[in-house]
Amino acid sequence: MMPGGAGSPLQQLIAQFGSSVIVIDASQLAAVNVDHRKLYQGKALALALPRSTAEVSKLLAFCNALRIGVIPQGGNTSYCGGTAPDDSGTQLVLSLRRMNTLREMNPVNDSMIVEAGCILADVQRAAADVGRFFPLSLGAEGSCQIGGNLSTNAGGVNVVRYGMTRDLVLGLEVVLADGRVLSTLQALRKDNTGYDLRHLFIGAEGTLGVITAASLKLFPAPRSVATAFVAVPTSASAVSLLNELRTHCGDLVSSFELIPDIAIDLVVRHLPGSRVPLDGTSPWYVLCEITSALPNEPLGERLEAALAAALEAGLVTNATLAQSERERQDFWFIREHIPEAQRRDGPSLKHDISLPLDRLAAFIASAGDWIRDEIPEGYLVCYGHVGDGNLHFNINQTANPVQSPNAAAGALVSRQNEIRRVIHDRVHELGGSFSAEHGIGRHKVEELERYASPLELELMRAIKRTFDPNGIMNPGKVLRIASLSR
Ligand code: FAD
Ligand code: MLT
Ligand code: ZN
Repeated sequence: MMPGGAGSPLQQLIAQFGSSVIVIDASQLAAVNVDHRKLYQGKALALALPRSTAEVSKLLAFCNALRIGVIPQGGNTSYCGGTAPDDSGTQLVLSLRRMNTLREMNPVNDSMIVEAGCILADVQRAAADVGRFFPLSLGAEGSCQIGGNLSTNAGGVNVVRYGMTRDLVLGLEVVLADGRVLSTLQALRKDNTGYDLRHLFIGAEGTLGVITAASLKLFPAPRSVATAFVAVPTSASAVSLLNELRTHCGDLVSSFELIPDIAIDLVVRHLPGSRVPLDGTSPWYVLCEITSALPNEPLGERLEAALAAALEAGLVTNATLAQSERERQDFWFIREHIPEAQRRDGPSLKHDISLPLDRLAAFIASAGDWIRDEIPEGYLVCYGHVGDGNLHFNINQTANPVQSPNAAAGALVSRQNEIRRVIHDRVHELGGSFSAEHGIGRHKVEELERYASPLELELMRAIKRTFDPNGIMNPGKVLRIASLSR
């Protein structure tokens, strides 16, 4: 029977849940049918917009009974194609956007309970309103949702001090594939009562169930801050500078981001209003920040002293400290807008890799040489969360005025598999990861199959079968399982 015919799954969904929950409006479907990077264009059966955990539960029980594939969607900002339905017209996109209630704020316990559809920036603001701090921070925070952050175990710019999303969670509420609700929404810091199930859902990218709410850790709000934009001669100096800063400032270091000169050029070219913090040129820069919860701490002096020692040691060639919140925002504007500037500049390939810090600079040098020598179609834009050993080793299309823009676009993209193989193999040989913070989605399923051990894959598949025996949850993402894939 056709999806749209009488008695069809779509008709049954509408009859059961009503047209305010099951949306078939073409323009709303167009927005959810494609992922952020436009890597995958699908065709959803419909868009479900539940308002409560009970409604998510009924929807999943219904879809499980009818074997309808369900694609959870948050802000749709993730990079690996995890949110796009396939093109069969039989999968239901389930957006959490209506479930955006702050269920509990508990400053005494330093915790809060939020629904999965809350926008990350709103979660940060709610914490700030009671004088607390929720440290997860990334360029997409104005539109990504906490449910998406949890499901991708997002990283961002504060990991060096506070950890990944996983480290910020006390408990979860999850609707399982068959509709049962697993609630571990406690706000405890200590609870050693058997297997810790919440961690299976964090980073599962919607393949094991739908996260509907989370109990999150809060921290004392930073009340003193110092931010520096620093020119360094090599990427190796940047790594050494991190060590120097930690020696001088200990665990006050909360962000440590590497920025190449080419990224600054891109931001200045594509985003009017951006201000370059330092005069002169340097191949590399570091944006670093130290913070303290104590008021009126002389952090500027401390950071200046650390940078002066690094200048003396030849690790730094120039540096400036933000003299106002406005200047601090200007520094961060450059860093946060690199992905947008890259996007505006044309097609690009993304490699979200991590390496042990002692191997990072050697990797940048050798893989950078390889790109310069072997990939005339592209140029390297390597930046990111060096404090965590995480590089966005991205390659942008070289402008080629001889070819038409579309022919030029094809040139780099047509070599993506070959380029990815060389980069990821090298990362793997050095003990690194081919996906540090962006996940697997649909885009990196083959990479996971290549680099995970057979035992890891066997155990992951066993977990998938246990939680989702009918394979309805985000089919084809993260893992391919012959008997489950649809
Ligand atoms: P979506 O894209 O909607 O979904 C992501 C995955 O989670 C999908 O597989 C989806 O099916 C699943 N999912 C979503 N909600 C739920 C739910 N409630 N229950 C179960 N499964 C669900 N990422 C980083 O880690 N660090 C960065 O620094 C960073 N910077 C970025 C900067 C920009 C400008 C952009 C555009 C993206 C950036 N990202 C970064 C990637 C992205 O923002 C993160 O992966 C984010 O966590 C995704 O959240 P989302 O709500 O958009 O999730
Ligand atoms: C970032 O840190 O800005 C993103 O995770 C990287 C990217 O867009 O490639
Ligand atoms: Zn990142």
